[in-house]
Amino acid sequence: MAGSELIRAARRVRKHARADYSGFRVGAALEAADGTIITGCNIENASYGLTMCAERVAMFKAISEGHKRFRRIVVVADTDDPTPPCGPCRQILWEFAGDIEVIIANLRRETARLRMKELLPLPFDGRLLK
Ligand code: THU
Repeated sequence: MAGSELIRAARRVRKHARADYSGFRVGAALEAADGTIITGCNIENASYGLTMCAERVAMFKAISEGHKRFRRIVVVADTDDPTPPCGPCRQILWEFAGDIEVIIANLRRETARLRMKELLPLPFDGRLLK
């Protein structure tokens, strides 16, 4: 199935999650336009509010490494129902990656596949600021 390498990467990086407070580990794997895979895990800390989700870790790593265009992202959590990107992550993914494919999986199988436009149908973005 297309995306299985990305799913494996997201499952692998999920093991590095610092979910010391929630215990909820998430892994993300972002595929750049040139095929590079950039991964991220969630990182919590004692302030709680400074927690960073796996998707944003992956995206910020990718941007800082010079990637500008993206094809898709995989999000993995240990849930039977799909764990989709949270609201702030949807904003960041839309702004820097646009209408990419979002594949959601758990430790055993893919649970959902949709596009950013479905997750954020009426986005606020830079076009409105001109
Ligand atoms: N989390 C993510 O990393 N990505 C998601 O898509 C949902 C939530 C993290 C944030 C926090 O560390 C933990 O999961 C519980 O909310």
